[in-house]
Amino acid sequence: MSSQPLAAGAPASALAPPLAVENLEFSWAGGRTALRGCQLRIERPGLWMLVGSNGSGKSTLLRLIAGLLQPGSGAIHTELKPALVFQNPDHQLLLPSCSSDLQLGLPEHLSAAQRLMRVEMALEQVGLAGFGGRPIHTLSGGQKQRLAIAGALATDAQLLLLDEPTALLDPTSQGEVIALIRRLCSRPEAPLTALWITHRLEELDHCDGAARMDAGRIGPWQSGAALRVDLTPLPGGRAER
Ligand SMILES: Nc1ncnc2c1ncn2[C@@H]1O[C@H](COP(=O)(O)OP(=O)(O)O)[C@@H](O)[C@H]1O
Ligand SMILES: [Mg+2]
Repeated sequence: MSSQPLAAGAPASALAPPLAVENLEFSWAGGRTALRGCQLRIERPGLWMLVGSNGSGKSTLLRLIAGLLQPGSGAIHTELKPALVFQNPDHQLLLPSCSSDLQLGLPEHLSAAQRLMRVEMALEQVGLAGFGGRPIHTLSGGQKQRLAIAGALATDAQLLLLDEPTALLDPTSQGEVIALIRRLCSRPEAPLTALWITHRLEELDHCDGAARMDAGRIGPWQSGAALRVDLTPLPGGRAER
């Protein structure tokens, strides 16, 4: 019998935070240094946001945490299973129907009935109950993004790494995706930990803490409101310089 997955957001050790990044260094082949002594500590489940100018290393950091890249030096400590959610859901939804796509990420040992139940539960959690048979091309951008999040939930991910997940969405869909992640991160039972990269200052109002990334390093956690005041607003409400 397989071992039970860790309860989401509840590290095995009471002392272990959901995520600790220590002195991370990473250079791309060709010599471009993306992270320089990068430190980040998330002490409890919740919705944590990062902002920073283009090229400051945000996407590289998420890929390192997800295990897609190996650090040059430093360490990443987490007992949670990570899952990446990208800006463009079309880049991560592979199969034609909602159900078939979600089943793709499930462990092989599950029976057909267990797979179906997992898929239905994941769809329900993201507000897409009954969408299993729907062709993915018939979904709106916001629904596709929620399906990508369902994919993470179906595989029992407990650490969501969201790289500008609302950048391509209209304001209504943007609000739905934020509300969904907020709900998943605040549920009393097994709250998730989410690290969310944003360029949109208004999104900072919904986080439990926000930090600024600059030239491969991350500043201290602040409230979303405080960081919002700190950042010089640019036309269009973007935090990017
Ligand atoms: N695949 C890649 N190959 C080489 N350099 C890259 C690659 N991806 C990003 N970089 C470089 O790494 C640095 C950080 O990029 P990135 O992590 O994408 O920043 P951000 O997400 O904050 O815009 C930049 O200098 C960028 O040019
Ligand atoms: Mg990026």
